Amino acid sequence: MASQVVLIFLFLTSFLALVSSRGSFEIGNMVYNHLIYQEIHEKYGVPLMVRHEDVFITGVEKEMIEAVLVQDLKGDGIAFIKDGGIGRKNVTLRLESGAQGEGYKFLINIFAY
Ligand SMILES: *[C@@H]1O[C@H](CO)[C@@H](O)[C@H](O)[C@H]1NC(C)=O
Repeated sequence: MASQVVLIFLFLTSFLALVSSRGSFEIGNMVYNHLIYQEIHEKYGVPLMVRHEDVFITGVEKEMIEAVLVQDLKGDGIAFIKDGGIGRKNVTLRLESGAQGEGYKFLINIFAY
């Protein structure tokens, strides 16, 4: 009985962690690297429409992407790396709103070496 309660608790907490982190993530290492891109991407809501956008960011010359930080400023979006990323010369980020037509607002920071 007690172990079932623990299992349910673990399931619920991991589920909440998953849901609350869908729109924000940090990957890579910022130390020794410099900011090459810092922009807010925002789309207003359209009722019942998922708004989305692919953002392509590339370093200049030999710059290599070392860290990607995405902050979901509205808190109900989804963001992930669609292509490229750490150790590559470029990265494509996918930004999506929730399904209820609420739009989105993300802050993107990209660091390169
Ligand atoms: C993106 O970077 C990779 C290497 O990391 C390169 O091969 C590719 O051509 C780049 N794409 C564009 C569109 O610059």
